Amino acid sequence: MKQVPGPKGLEAYKYLNMFRLDQFQFWEKMIKNYGEIAFMSAAGLKIYVISNPKHIKYVFSENASNYRKSFLYNEIKHILGSGLLVNEGESWKRARRIVQPVFKKSNIASLVPIILESADESIQSIDSFNGKEFDVSDEMMKLTFQIAGRSFFGVNTISLSKQMNEALSASLEEVVDRIRSIIKIPLSIPTKRNRRLNWAINELDRIIYSMLNDRKNSKTESDDLLSKIIHAKDEETGIGLTDKEIRDEMLTFLAAGHETTSNALTWSLYLLSKNPEYAKKIKSEVDALNKSKLEFEDIAKLPLTGMVFEESLRLYSPAYSTDRSPIEDDEVDGYKIEKGSIVQVCIHHLHRSEKFWDKANDFIPERFSKENESKLIPFAFIPFGAGPRVCIGNQFANTEAVLLLAKLIQNFEPICNFTAEPEFDPVITLRPKGGMKLVMRRW
Ligand code: HEM
Repeated sequence: MKQVPGPKGLEAYKYLNMFRLDQFQFWEKMIKNYGEIAFMSAAGLKIYVISNPKHIKYVFSENASNYRKSFLYNEIKHILGSGLLVNEGESWKRARRIVQPVFKKSNIASLVPIILESADESIQSIDSFNGKEFDVSDEMMKLTFQIAGRSFFGVNTISLSKQMNEALSASLEEVVDRIRSIIKIPLSIPTKRNRRLNWAINELDRIIYSMLNDRKNSKTESDDLLSKIIHAKDEETGIGLTDKEIRDEMLTFLAAGHETTSNALTWSLYLLSKNPEYAKKIKSEVDALNKSKLEFEDIAKLPLTGMVFEESLRLYSPAYSTDRSPIEDDEVDGYKIEKGSIVQVCIHHLHRSEKFWDKANDFIPERFSKENESKLIPFAFIPFGAGPRVCIGNQFANTEAVLLLAKLIQNFEPICNFTAEPEFDPVITLRPKGGMKLVMRRW
């Protein structure tokens, strides 16, 4: 088998440092200097960076059963327990079987009124800025959290949604800090940071279990995902999820679905501000429907809005990287991949690679049109991941984003007063550093 190219000796430690301080630079240099499959081994860490769609297809789909998520996900388990994002093996398979039908089309369609009602509230809130510059990323976070609270948990009260948001943000911040720290102090030792993380986890437990108990005792039917998941059963055994499993899945939806969608919308608005002719086209597309209330079926009648959203997911993929770890040694294109190592894919880099995209850095939504579909290279566009572990919420996210973009752009023209390319703040998802200050001007 061929040896995978990569930095050796002292050079490998330079790359290790880069990996810790600036992952985007690490992936870029690994790919540029060592090619489609690059390998770094230093301080016990073995990382392969793969960047060819064919290899991604092999690892994430064709031979997916030989791969798990890497140990980098372990810290997230403190918050998400055994939720789908971090679960593995038979336990994951069973949970996915039970949860998948919860995301069926008809269930998502029934959540559309919640999305639209929240959009109307956001339009009012944006109006209060009176055409002045404000942080749209902040507004999109509020909007998508509001929708998540209502559609996942049926939570309408602002105070409960605020408590949940605070606890979730604190827990994610602490976990990101733990992922970055070399020494991980056990949570049982009451350091300041551990106390904050433990507080946040207890708070999330308190809120979610209380909602779960209320819902179980309630006689009224509800459209939200919590109700659906309480009643969901494994088709093979007829058995559903335990309370702890429901808690883990619900929290996973919130953690995996809220910030990703919010950032996707923020970047879409930014791109539209830079490409105003597309904002006008979206407005015409929505206006042409001539409807006071959009419906689920209207999404198919908003192809341009959908294409703009996909192009935004390509250029600013909220989930900018992912990884796997082989259970047994594997071979990719004649190269040996060691068991227990980390195989990383930088989705952001893949989506902007000139090898797989014409004018990769340009905003060209038409590349996602029906006519151009056949030109797309399989596995070169994976904003929702790929293979059996593909995002379970992708249809929900798409429905939410297309409807919100349609509503927002029908009312406002986004305007950007800065020229510098925004910097990234890649925490867990791809946030714009310092927020995204835009003007949303009434047409
Ligand atoms: C634009 C929005 C979103 C993006 C970009 C996104 C991206 C992703 C990606 C890339 C993965 C795969 C990770 C991997 O294989 O390593 C994933 C998995 C997942 N996502 Fe999403 N996601 C979004 C919205 C949502 C929403 C709205 C939900 C829930 C309501 C959700 C729930 C999940 C779950 C549960 C998984 C784990 C699936 C499994 O492993 O079985 N996501 N997402």
